[in-house]
Amino acid sequence: MAKVKCPECGEEIETTGIITVCPKCNADMREVMEAVGHERAERMKTIARDDSVTTHEFIVRTRDLCKIYVMGEVEVPALRDVDLDVRRGEYLSIMGPSGSGKSTLFNMIGGLDKPTGGRCFIEEVDMAQLDAFELAWLRCRKIGYIFQTFNLIPVMTALENVTLPMIFAGMDTDEMMDRGRELLELVGLDDRLDHKPYDLSGGQQQRVAVARALANAPAIILADEPTGNLDLQTGKEIIDLLKELNQESGVTIISATHDLKMIDVSDRIVHIRDGEIERIERRADLKLEIGTLGSEVEDAE
Ligand SMILES: Nc1ncnc2c1ncn2[C@@H]1O[C@H](COP(=O)(O)OP(=O)(O)OP(=O)(O)O)[C@@H](O)[C@H]1O
Ligand SMILES: [Mg+2]
Repeated sequence: MAKVKCPECGEEIETTGIITVCPKCNADMREVMEAVGHERAERMKTIARDDSVTTHEFIVRTRDLCKIYVMGEVEVPALRDVDLDVRRGEYLSIMGPSGSGKSTLFNMIGGLDKPTGGRCFIEEVDMAQLDAFELAWLRCRKIGYIFQTFNLIPVMTALENVTLPMIFAGMDTDEMMDRGRELLELVGLDDRLDHKPYDLSGGQQQRVAVARALANAPAIILADEPTGNLDLQTGKEIIDLLKELNQESGVTIISATHDLKMIDVSDRIVHIRDGEIERIERRADLKLEIGTLGSEVEDAE
């Protein structure tokens, strides 16, 4: 929970999320929220673990992560004691059959849902120690999300969809428009700024979603089946785009996928089954062992 004061009418507002205008007088609250965000970011640093020199090598860590969904009398264990370390700048694919827990893991790492047990650290900050406002701040600044169904806002243009997360990050309008245009250019859509999602192909919509995920220069992009609704060629283009971004900007990519084309670009492939990590393969090792598909390489960490 954050307590903020409207600079115009003086209203004291308690909020668990990031607000852009005062609910009483409609005054612009972005600067105020920005200041609170920075204050909280400092606090988050103080609760980050700092017990080893290699600390910042890992951008995401999970320890004994468990998720049990309860449906009436039935308990569905979706994740069981998952320990995973993701290196900064890594391209990681999470593979596994339908129902194996990929999206559940993705939701835990992205702070979209809470684990039943265990811990998830983002840049060594234990997400369970954050309050709702801090979690909203972390999701807005640190993580970009890409979904199978694109999840664009249908009444907004491509440019408006891309700039939306920037509003919540307190960016001023001119800067926001410039950055939105740059990002759409980066994904090859500079001639589609004013198109709404329905006037774009699936591949183009996913490009807009990629640009939107990059809006606030996140450290991590979480992509849940980003090619699941695309044809082979378009899917390949999105994978290549993600790889390019990963190599050029160093953004860490964690992608849940069924798509075997992802193997080519991934640094590591985490195979999960029944909510457990079955094995982890490194691409470097796969290349050495061409022809012996399924070579099992336990990760050393
Ligand atoms: N909200 C929910 N309530 C109850 N059970 C759920 C819920 N979400 C997921 N599950 C169950 O948890 C398990 C893992 O589901 P999850 O969606 O993580 O799988 P997935 O690997 O992403 O599958 P897919 O490849 O089909 O997307 C499944 O058994 C699923 O039925
Ligand atoms: Mg899924």
